Amino acid sequence: MVAIAATNLVKRYQDKLAVNDVSLDIGEDELLVLVGPSGCGKTTTLRMLVGLEPITSGTLRFGEKVVNEIRPKDRNVAMVFQDYAIFPHFTVYENIAYGMRARHENRALISERVPAAARMFRIDHLLKRKPRQLSGGERQRVALARALVRDASLYLYDEPLANLDAQLRHQAREDILLLHREKGRPSVYVTHDQSEAMALGDRIAVMRDGKIQQIGTGTELYDQPYSRFVAFFIGTPSINLFDAELRNNNGEIDIVTQAFTVRAADEMKEKIRGHIGRPVTLGLRPEDLHPPRNAPFPVTAENTIHGIVNVIEPTSTGCTVYLTTLGAEGQDFIATFKARLPASYIGKEVPLAVNRRKIQLFDAETERSLLYGPGIQF
Ligand SMILES: Nc1ncnc2c1ncn2[C@@H]1O[C@H](COP(=O)(O)OP(=O)(O)OP(=O)(O)O)[C@@H](O)[C@H]1O
Ligand SMILES: [Mg+2]
Repeated sequence: MVAIAATNLVKRYQDKLAVNDVSLDIGEDELLVLVGPSGCGKTTTLRMLVGLEPITSGTLRFGEKVVNEIRPKDRNVAMVFQDYAIFPHFTVYENIAYGMRARHENRALISERVPAAARMFRIDHLLKRKPRQLSGGERQRVALARALVRDASLYLYDEPLANLDAQLRHQAREDILLLHREKGRPSVYVTHDQSEAMALGDRIAVMRDGKIQQIGTGTELYDQPYSRFVAFFIGTPSINLFDAELRNNNGEIDIVTQAFTVRAADEMKEKIRGHIGRPVTLGLRPEDLHPPRNAPFPVTAENTIHGIVNVIEPTSTGCTVYLTTLGAEGQDFIATFKARLPASYIGKEVPLAVNRRKIQLFDAETERSLLYGPGIQF
């Protein structure tokens, strides 16, 4: 069931469209992750949801009720702010208790919940301190505890883990997920870290320039990106992109780049035929390039490209290989292998088998996928 529905939300500051026609549904117990580069409108979207920013146009509903004009304190939204926004003159205890006290909650409940929330975020030894006596990471955890101690109808997290070290971030992420599952309330989690988005979200919304380009599960965004931007944003290392042109070859369609040619898979031919002769962008994910011997599909000249190995980086599962295409204007690209590659390959030319069914193709001008998408405008 949809708990929160934002329809065509717009936020305009003078001549700046910070949020440009955003529509979002958040399920009753869903954790929706909002990702996108700095300045794309993530915080502004959250501020409209919580009620701190007037909505220029569009409709925001909590359940059946339109809340555009409802004041923040009557919306009952808990938010973890990007800059913590904890009160400097209050102790950690008072900061965490603040929301519950402001809502005149039962004292016994407050004195039970505040230490429990502090324990969860490992700041229970700091309850008597003031924020200036805390590190950045500790302050961030106070902000988390303060928001999560409450029973709210919607939880908003604005990059809540940015200042934690890797281990604490992992722990805090687990704690947030655990609490989310326990409470079962709609939540929106903002990050610009796509791997955090993949780890946390039931669904992920990818935002750019005030607009949402695509909403879907991590797998959908990864396998079927609607745009070059989404394809590039999701996945590490990022997808390799090459300028290319589509050419007819006796009924087959060849994707011709400056350095190599690969043949389009049969199942994409119908979708891309109309682009023959036009400039496109070819996308090849690093994990879809295989040493021919290990390729899980038949290897032929039509699906083999070549590169010179520059660097081999061992990973826990195999290695990441940095290569350059052949030819005068060599272009760097990356392949990830499930096996180690001996260092003796550095400087050598190697063949790579391309999984043609995983090829991505984008219109070079509009950057929209030729293969996936509902034909939305952005
Ligand atoms: N009060 C304001 N007046 C004018 N412009 C603003 C205001 N607040 C935000 N903006 C602009 O709106 C755009 C979106 O800002 P927002 O804070 O929502 O981005 P963000 O996606 O949260 O970025 P970050 O990842 O850096 O936090 C930015 O270009 C910003 O400069
Ligand atoms: Mg922000």
